[in-house]
Amino acid sequence: MVKKVGVITAGGDCPGLNAVIRGIVKTAEYAGVETYGFLEGYKGLLENRYIKLDPKITNGIISKGGTILGSNNKTNTFAIPVKNENGETEYVDKSVEIAERLKKDGYDCLIIIGGDGSLKSARDYTRRGINVIGVPKTIDNDVPHTDTTFGFYTAVEVATEAIDRIRTTAESHGRVLILEVMGRYAGWIALAAGIAGGADTILIPEIPYDLNKVVEKINQRKDRGQKYSIIVVAEGAKPLGGELTVKSTVSDSPDKIRLGGAGDYVAKEVERLTGIEARSTMLGYLQRGGNTGPYDRILSTEYGSMAMQLAIEGKFNEMVTLLNGKITHVPLDEVAGKDTKIGEESSNIKTVDLDGDWVKTARRIGICLGD
Ligand code: F6P
Repeated sequence: MVKKVGVITAGGDCPGLNAVIRGIVKTAEYAGVETYGFLEGYKGLLENRYIKLDPKITNGIISKGGTILGSNNKTNTFAIPVKNENGETEYVDKSVEIAERLKKDGYDCLIIIGGDGSLKSARDYTRRGINVIGVPKTIDNDVPHTDTTFGFYTAVEVATEAIDRIRTTAESHGRVLILEVMGRYAGWIALAAGIAGGADTILIPEIPYDLNKVVEKINQRKDRGQKYSIIVVAEGAKPLGGELTVKSTVSDSPDKIRLGGAGDYVAKEVERLTGIEARSTMLGYLQRGGNTGPYDRILSTEYGSMAMQLAIEGKFNEMVTLLNGKITHVPLDEVAGKDTKIGEESSNIKTVDLDGDWVKTARRIGICLGD
């Protein structure tokens, strides 16, 4: 019988996190399970900082973006940097200690809500004897073994509205307007929002782009009397034979590079090659903040409730998932991929399927994908 469950929201925040927490807590209440939320992701787990969760706390949070527990995308409890006596940084694995403490404190299970890196750590905690259930979170939609992560469709909604807004100014000035969206090394947000917003060109990491093709599309439109063009660029898009556009490098985070600037690069090159004025807008954190859309509220509630249900049934070490429209679950081992090394931040992301319907549709209606 499961009596006590810990909840963690890890990695970058994302619309729907609060709705997942609420789904967990409400389902737990009816089953008589106590829930505790660790604060600021794995950092709170490391420092044993938590709050008791109950329906009073989760009241009214279904619509609210962000996470009432706070999050953190820097702490890898399997490799905590500490200075040794020579002033050098060494990495210490704190997970064994943490697992012992969780067992001593009577936690029957941890529900870890996170993206691919956080879910890899979740899987690794199962190897420390902790019962874990994962929930796939990220606006990037790049977690494998699920049709959709929660947060994705809210981000797509924001990006689509941005394209709508960009269109009127592009049209008025006869410019090429570029919207750079998030997504890390996957082009899901760019592709979905690009199709929804009626973009002319969509550049995604999965297809290194040829600038000549981008220019061709702009000129084609010009020849048809359409003086403006809209290009959606994923932050991870790169030119054929070229590199990722890195905004900064970070030393204190598992993700060592921060992407940004791919849109500016495309704007500069397009202007140079066509002589048409081009402007770029980086949508940035607007995609992650604000209220959660209705679809994500439903999906998050389903995910949260199912995660707690799995805990109640003792079906541990699984990730809740949406497969062919059904809420179900897959082993965390499969999500973490073939890499079985404990504590390493390897990635097993789901990229855009180039034979999938979205890509096929985009091509059929003449959207340029840069190839
Ligand atoms: O993983 C979600 C995401 O929003 C990515 O699309 C983006 O590259 C990244 O997080 C930025 O994260 P942060 O600035 O919080 O480290």
